[in-house]
Amino acid sequence: MDIAGKVAVVTGAASGIGRATAMALAKAGAGGVVLADIDAKGIETSRDLVAGANADCKVITAVTDVTHLASLEAMYETTLAEFGQVDVVFNNAGIVSGPPPFPDTDPARVKLVIDIDLTSVIVSTQLAVRHMRERGGVIINTASTGGLNPYLADAPYAAAKAGVIMFSRSCKDLHAAANIRVNAVCPGVTETPILEKLGGGSRPEWLTPIMENIKVLTPDDIAAAVLDLIRDDSMAGEYVVVANDPLGAKA
Ligand SMILES: NC(=O)c1ccc[n+]([C@@H]2O[C@H](COP(=O)([O-])OP(=O)(O)OC[C@H]3O[C@@H](n4cnc5c(N)ncnc54)[C@H](O)[C@@H]3O)[C@@H](O)[C@H]2O)c1
Repeated sequence: MDIAGKVAVVTGAASGIGRATAMALAKAGAGGVVLADIDAKGIETSRDLVAGANADCKVITAVTDVTHLASLEAMYETTLAEFGQVDVVFNNAGIVSGPPPFPDTDPARVKLVIDIDLTSVIVSTQLAVRHMRERGGVIINTASTGGLNPYLADAPYAAAKAGVIMFSRSCKDLHAAANIRVNAVCPGVTETPILEKLGGGSRPEWLTPIMENIKVLTPDDIAAAVLDLIRDDSMAGEYVVVANDPLGAKA
């Protein structure tokens, strides 16, 4: 899909990967970008940054809790009222369990992780498909390399992200049926505020030796992979890994 003039919805747009991807979409000539997040202040900051990236891109914010059906529906209604179409959806909002590590995680937190990281991705995809059936579209879901490798300390997160990968793969035939391409992106360790959330406010000690041995990705690295997935019309039902090279590896 040619991004020029298209309308994109980005969830988790107040921070990190979502903010960087919204900026990249604007730079690539998107006609409209909808910044959706539960963090009302954060999306206002993102709005300034995205508008600064391309003054011709119309940027709107939609305070959205992706775990609430009515809130997700309102996000799509706002998009359609403003732009009359939705071409790209980046289902990216996500959380980690944080301390204490699994199996001591509060069960209420486990339910929230599954709700935000997996269920909302599925429900938002359903809603997007309803609005894309006429003209086709592209949906990208944020998974994680954590969804490919066993990870006891945050097993609920790993399970949710593995679910996002299989859900996106399961949507492959929507391409032939409705010209809607659904794919997942699997970032490795990426420099965003979520790394502090892993430790409940500060980076956990166990992360230090890992980060010392890898090239940590930037949100722009993930945004570039998302834009590649949007542009490549052959990609449907696939997952793309953005891996951390070992330190010392050639770029
Ligand atoms: N940073 C990494 O190392 C990494 C690695 C793999 C996958 N990911 C995934 O990338 C995605 C983006 O994470 P990030 O690293 O940019 O982290 P981040 O914490 O900077 O951004 C996550 C955003 O999601 C929003 N959010 C949380 N709950 C929400 C809800 N109920 N409704 C709407 N928005 C909500 C937050 O307010 C925040 O703005 C997540 O799905 C995360 O799991 C991140």
